[in-house]
Amino acid sequence: MKKGKKLYEGKAKIIYATTDKDLVIQYFKDDATAFNNQKKTTIEGKGVLNNRISEYILSNLSQIGIKNHLVKRLNMREQVIKLVEIIPIEFIVRNVATGSLTKRLGIEDGTILKEPLIEYCLKDDSLGDPLISEEHIYAFEWANKKEIEKVKKTILRINDFMIGMFRGIGIKLIDFKLEFGRLKTNGKNEVILADEISPDTCRLWDSVTDKKLDKDRFRKDLGDLIPAYTEVAKRLGILHEQSNVSAVNVTKLSSVKKKSK
Ligand code: TMP
Ligand code: ASP
Repeated sequence: MKKGKKLYEGKAKIIYATTDKDLVIQYFKDDATAFNNQKKTTIEGKGVLNNRISEYILSNLSQIGIKNHLVKRLNMREQVIKLVEIIPIEFIVRNVATGSLTKRLGIEDGTILKEPLIEYCLKDDSLGDPLISEEHIYAFEWANKKEIEKVKKTILRINDFMIGMFRGIGIKLIDFKLEFGRLKTNGKNEVILADEISPDTCRLWDSVTDKKLDKDRFRKDLGDLIPAYTEVAKRLGILHEQSNVSAVNVTKLSSVKKKSK
């Protein structure tokens, strides 16, 4: 399978065509953005870590029967994925109140929610990904009722699985964002999990210290983003390098792999 032309470039990833019309390559960039692109930088090694972490989580979800777009990781920055039509909604799942929820509704930061809370945002950068209701989704036909019912059930299973997975490695899953897409099989549309699950799209706090191990390190200028993402990867058991995996080491790994292609 050969890499073809660029089909789409987002803020953190690029999608390339392949010689197989049903498959595309997802490339993880080092670019970090926040607050709808108002804040941007490049953090060397971030894409490599997100590629690995997302591969790990999505393949574990596959193993418990949650269908998703991942086919296989190709190298340090790329994975082969099934081509889907992305539903233009960001599904936010919250276990603990923080971030935009606390600002929007005045809920105290760190409040543990009795039930996971699902929020919907329209995936439209030019509008700043506004919060929408389920009624908006049906009114403007961004997805139908059957699709949303299935997505909601799947989200709760993903949340349960991920809470347990992270709890086992001393991390609290505070909240995260998911995207789903329509996969055409035998003329029928099936909704499956897409995009990525990584410290870019989750809030992860150390269980004991509440240290932030996610993109809030960039959003809030806390620094040390690569050591935090590396810590997550190491605790998940997917990075076997000794103690200090620095940005430089991650970049070296990435360039070694590139040369050997
Ligand atoms: P929020 O508190 O800023 O609304 O974010 C909720 C969760 O969703 C948090 O884990 C970060 C994630 N998220 C994204 O992955 N992409 C986005 O564009 C936004 C706004 C949030
Ligand atoms: N990814 C979004 C942006 O770049 C927001 C975020 O993750 O905070 O604006």
